[in-house]
Amino acid sequence: MAEGIVTELRKFLAPEIVFGANARRLVGRNARKLGAHRVLLASDPGVAQAGWTGEVTALLEAEGLVVTPFLDISPNPRDFQVMAGAERYRESGSDFIVAVGGGSVMDCAKGVGIVATNGGFILDYEGVDRVPIPMPPLICIPTTGGTSADVSQFAIITNSSEHVKIAIISKTMVPDVALIDPGTLLTMDPYLTACTGMDALVHAIEAYVSNAHSPITDLHALEAVRLVATHLADSVAHPDDYTLRSQIMLASLQAGLAFSNASLGCVHAMAHSLGGYKDLPHGECNALLLSHVMAYNFSMAPERFLRIGSALGGDFRGLAEREGCAALLARVLSLRLACGIEGGLASRGVREDDIDRLAAKAIEDPCNATNPRAPSLEDLKVIYAEALG
Ligand SMILES: [Fe+2]
Repeated sequence: MAEGIVTELRKFLAPEIVFGANARRLVGRNARKLGAHRVLLASDPGVAQAGWTGEVTALLEAEGLVVTPFLDISPNPRDFQVMAGAERYRESGSDFIVAVGGGSVMDCAKGVGIVATNGGFILDYEGVDRVPIPMPPLICIPTTGGTSADVSQFAIITNSSEHVKIAIISKTMVPDVALIDPGTLLTMDPYLTACTGMDALVHAIEAYVSNAHSPITDLHALEAVRLVATHLADSVAHPDDYTLRSQIMLASLQAGLAFSNASLGCVHAMAHSLGGYKDLPHGECNALLLSHVMAYNFSMAPERFLRIGSALGGDFRGLAEREGCAALLARVLSLRLACGIEGGLASRGVREDDIDRLAAKAIEDPCNATNPRAPSLEDLKVIYAEALG
């Protein structure tokens, strides 16, 4: 099939997006415009300590809105945290949600919204298109550059009794407004910058080779790859550089628009299982798995992978397929190392006898459905073993 010819129907969803310096300061006006009276403000202690939560509270209150804070959200947000947030929403008579934070905060806020309107238990909504009633209006202000939960149809919640993450994918999860302000990234530490930036890279790569990609998602995906490759290591090394932070925030947005609509692949399926079991940072899991899954997938879409390689700054002209694959993987690995993410899964406490359990959970993840190569349970075990390092 010629590139650019669309033979299947594709839709593209995105929230209203305001991107740029001080975008966060528009939160009060936007909440009022959308009819808010009482706002549940979802955030976490770290973001509050950085000052972002207090500022947003003041901006909402300046518009005459009543704000109820909900800060009991951890990394890899748990099912019981979502349920507690939904209870806080109900008790406080809230009619609106604002989320200020990284992917964990935004995913938890989406979960709170689902339960607030649909009732039941958050894990009941696992899977694709299983949320019947839209959630209350939601404004997201991201404070990390990578997760893109502020523009995506995804929420990832940890099942606390089975120590596994579940994916909820539904167009009802797309926020109403994303206020994307690169200034919020200035408070991120270097390792978090590296992990979240690599998450954005994985979003872009998985979206570009996804079975559900389209010419529209391709544009965003390739540009995101280029931006991460050009600016992430520098942004880690120079955390106070606003211009570099802007480029990474833009990369995150573009990757988010791509993966929200084209979906993901085995890196995320495996990272969800790993992060749920070992409570490791999502971006770190992705970064450690990426090159191994690319090696597994390469033969299914060599031309597309080499285009990713070009966006990463490589020159693959004249190389045979096998050499091109090796050069691409070397480039991905050197980017990860340049950002300070070293070692493999073994150095994060993953043992060989964890692999059966990790693979058994990963094979059930809906992200596998759009991976360019349909994985078997055995395939996932082999990839985990290779990633032990
Ligand atoms: Fe991700």
